[in-house]
Amino acid sequence: MRKKIIAANWKMYKTIKDAENFLREFLSLSNNYTEKEVVICPPFTSLFLVREYIKDTPYKLGAQNLFWEKEGAYTGEISPIMLRDLGCEYVIIGHSERRQYFGEDDEIVNKKLKSAFDNGLIPILCIGEKWEEREKGKTNDIIIKQINGALEGLDKENVKKLVIAYEPVWAIGTGHSARGEDANEVASLIREIIEKKYSGVVAQEIRIQYGGSVNPKNISEFLSQPEIDGALVGGASLNPQTFWEIVRI
Ligand code: 13P
Repeated sequence: MRKKIIAANWKMYKTIKDAENFLREFLSLSNNYTEKEVVICPPFTSLFLVREYIKDTPYKLGAQNLFWEKEGAYTGEISPIMLRDLGCEYVIIGHSERRQYFGEDDEIVNKKLKSAFDNGLIPILCIGEKWEEREKGKTNDIIIKQINGALEGLDKENVKKLVIAYEPVWAIGTGHSARGEDANEVASLIREIIEKKYSGVVAQEIRIQYGGSVNPKNISEFLSQPEIDGALVGGASLNPQTFWEIVRI
């Protein structure tokens, strides 16, 4: 049985004070909830604070990005060792915003995934098609290309720990989420690709999230799908009550 996993991606939102206010309220509302895994991915500047707040709770800490080297002269970058040092267990890799604004391609995503695994972090790998690609019927091709590129050279012991977030780019921050069945179809395709590349066991072990305009009203549409094991939540994770509603439902 795959444990459901709900992750909050705060993106570039919240000062330390904002993060503190969120945590006070979320921790009191959620009362050490354990039925699903809950991961909070704040900006780098709040990782230390969030760790301090959640260290005696069941909740996990995640980062939104990393650089693949362990250390070195890479001004402005953050290494996997530093993330581990801060208590991170997860790291989001290949988010469409990183692909769009920071030029991350499948090769970079692959290096980051390898580095995360080598340093004991579990990657949440984001993939998804743009609207033009969906309209042209290219969704499956894009998913296949992104997965093959990202997983190049990775072994099955690592891949079975992976979380894949299917985030159609057109659904991110738009208020237009995918339909549950369509997201489930892509999640099935992801398992087929993993089965071909690795094995049926690995395909059944990896967890697949849906992301893109998730809110308390539509979360059950996704979590009721057989191939979807959770959600990666952006905007709706910024408010403690809304995020708690999503986790609880
Ligand atoms: P929204 O939930 O704001 O659409 O963002 C989704 C997302 O990008 C999560 O990584």
